[in-house]
Amino acid sequence: MTFEDFEPLLSRAHAHAHAFLGGLSQRFVGARAGREEMMAALDAPLSRHGEDPAAVLDLLARNVERGASACAAPRYFGFVIGGSLPVALAADWLVSTWDQNAGIHVISPLAAAMEEIAARWLLDLFDLPRESSVGFVTGCQMAHFTCLAAARHGVLRRAGWDVETDGLNGAPRVHVVASQEAHITVDVALRYLGFGTSALVHVESDAQGRMRADRLREILPALQGPVIVCAQAGNVNTGAFDPLREIADATRVHGGWLHVDGAFGLWSRASTALHAIADGIELADSWATDAHKWLNVPYDSGVAIVRNSTDHHDAMTSAAAYLVQTRGAERDAVDWVPEFSRRARGIPVYAALRALGHDGVADLVDRCCARARQFADRLSVEPGVAILTDVVLNQVLVRFGDEDELTRDVIAGVQADGTCWAGGTTWHGRAAMRISVSNWATSEGDVNFSTDAMLRVYRSLREKRAAASSR
Ligand SMILES: Cc1ncc(COP(=O)(O)O)c(C=O)c1O
Repeated sequence: MTFEDFEPLLSRAHAHAHAFLGGLSQRFVGARAGREEMMAALDAPLSRHGEDPAAVLDLLARNVERGASACAAPRYFGFVIGGSLPVALAADWLVSTWDQNAGIHVISPLAAAMEEIAARWLLDLFDLPRESSVGFVTGCQMAHFTCLAAARHGVLRRAGWDVETDGLNGAPRVHVVASQEAHITVDVALRYLGFGTSALVHVESDAQGRMRADRLREILPALQGPVIVCAQAGNVNTGAFDPLREIADATRVHGGWLHVDGAFGLWSRASTALHAIADGIELADSWATDAHKWLNVPYDSGVAIVRNSTDHHDAMTSAAAYLVQTRGAERDAVDWVPEFSRRARGIPVYAALRALGHDGVADLVDRCCARARQFADRLSVEPGVAILTDVVLNQVLVRFGDEDELTRDVIAGVQADGTCWAGGTTWHGRAAMRISVSNWATSEGDVNFSTDAMLRVYRSLREKRAAASSR
């Protein structure tokens, strides 16, 4: 094997990446093609002898423009999708090039050291207990799984039960409490962990989507046995934070474990301006977040943080005779994450944090929040357009007119227009457009351009409806 084996293909890939990135901020933002077009372009019987690798790369690149959304582009406001910082993307290329199996230290002291350091930086950035342990997982879904596995271990250990050895059969019943507004990935993690969704006790939330701490205080005393409370720092629709200090106090009085879903909201901890919103978050026992959201590293990159590192370790660790494990002397990632073999996904996190520094992350977060307020300010002056909840972070919920159908049509019209992309949701039973600003590159001009497109679509639909009803 020589570099010459790789060079032509890597140069080709570089040229394709160059073309893609060069057009990213101008192109139609959504995906234009559907399954049919993509299958027609890509499907073929598996060939016997393979094909020219350069032609395969060209085939991929030829179809990305129509078949993929520009979700890394500055005018993509769907879901909560951060773009990629140039340094994080470049580091991610190196991760693929180096092809490290970052499961155990002996294979990659480099990856292990970067994850150890990035873990420490994250605890500093979030101002969370420095004794906490950190695992770099695929996303917030697996961060919940990891944290809640540690929680399951911890609360049952305190109840005299070793769940890792004896499983859940015959174990004391664990109650899990979460707000009605908890993200679906919390339910899924509970399913994976064998609790079943019937273990979940729902707490009402308020008009902004925050858990009602008064209702939690009423519910907890009625629950016998181990309790895990799941709170939220950043509602997926509104960006609202649960009252974390009150929830932490109530959970502590009851002897429970508090887990926080901070998929994007935990990054607010970097910002001085936003510090108050997450007051009390440091009192929790575990925290889940995504670096692929607000740190803007490429997919897939989540982070699981657990205050009690023994519970974390004991829930995750695995050992086998053929592995060269250091038993805590060095960092073996298998002790902190569900995966065994794994990508060195801590490296782009390290690179992004090193390049940005604390103030750079704060600036990224603050800029996105300012752009979200800009959306709300520009849209709310239009007659008939309503901003449904307080804009406290990077999320904006918008209604166009009184009928759900009009809001849904505006969303479809905006997606078809292609200037920007925003998705839909249902908020308190009514249709709403959901705007999430999570990309380092989104400028004031992007927001102006996008709100112009939204209002253009809205006005045109409103006029058509008015003309139709006057006929
Ligand atoms: C609040 C919240 N929790 C959890 C998740 C799940 O994150 P992931 O898709 O990285 O698993 C999301 C994703 O949007 C989210 O917004």
